[in-house]
Amino acid sequence: MPKSDHWSGFRVMKRLLILNSKGGCGKTTIATNLAGLYAASGTSTTLFDYDPQGSSQRWLDLRPDHFPNIHGVFAATTTQGAVTRSYALRVPSDTERIIVDTPASMKRLEMMEMLRKASAVVVPVLPSGIDCHVTLDFLKQLSDLCRQMGLNLPIGIVANRVRINTRSFKKLKESLEDLDVPLVAILRESQNYVYAAEAGCAITEMKEPVFKKDNLQWSILINWLETGRIPSTIPPNTTEILHPLTI
Ligand SMILES: Nc1ncnc2c1ncn2[C@@H]1O[C@H](COP(=O)(O)OP(=O)(O)OP(=O)(O)O)[C@@H](O)[C@H]1O
Ligand SMILES: [Mg+2]
Repeated sequence: MPKSDHWSGFRVMKRLLILNSKGGCGKTTIATNLAGLYAASGTSTTLFDYDPQGSSQRWLDLRPDHFPNIHGVFAATTTQGAVTRSYALRVPSDTERIIVDTPASMKRLEMMEMLRKASAVVVPVLPSGIDCHVTLDFLKQLSDLCRQMGLNLPIGIVANRVRINTRSFKKLKESLEDLDVPLVAILRESQNYVYAAEAGCAITEMKEPVFKKDNLQWSILINWLETGRIPSTIPPNTTEILHPLTI
């Protein structure tokens, strides 16, 4: 697909950090799907995996050769043989988007180092009381840290594994209402994410039909990352497939 003018803005390198101290909220899922989406749009993409579990790195290892290339950096190990740390963490000079997958628990210094380099932070949260409670604490810690560091970073919450008409999602939205940090996207619960994780692709790259609403949900997230715009409502009758390139 040819690049539109809008995406020529991608030439400036951005580093997008996927962060939450709560395990299992969807950090790797969001990191890998974002990487796949950016790569599919012709954007030169690098995926960093700071998690010793190496799930993003594994996803990259599974990625078929015919899919758009994503450069991988397994950043969890402190030393990689004889090379220096900075050499091991280098990215191709034409990289436009760096997606950073992080582990559930990180030391304060490590988090500060990542925040210093970041262009935006995505915080996934699941619609459950336990996840919401931990995430609210984490968001406070994150905001305090950014303030202490004098950083004015865009931070956005992504509600993940959402089933729209459930009490748990309603409660999550209520809990987020009074926060300074906006809810910037909603991703629905779908087995496609589980299949895509095993196939080394984004759900939008799968052979199985992906619902138009998934395309729209990802477009909304990319749109926030690229422009800072959050739609006030998701159009109820959207049948149009919105690819990030068309926004
Ligand atoms: N929207 C979704 N629908 C269905 N399953 C999902 C969705 N998002 C994530 N999952 C599944 O939930 C599990 C946890 O997701 P993921 O590994 O992305 O979380 P994580 O935050 O990276 O976890 P960790 O903190 O252990 O690194 C995975 O099996 C993943 O496939
Ligand atoms: Mg993970």
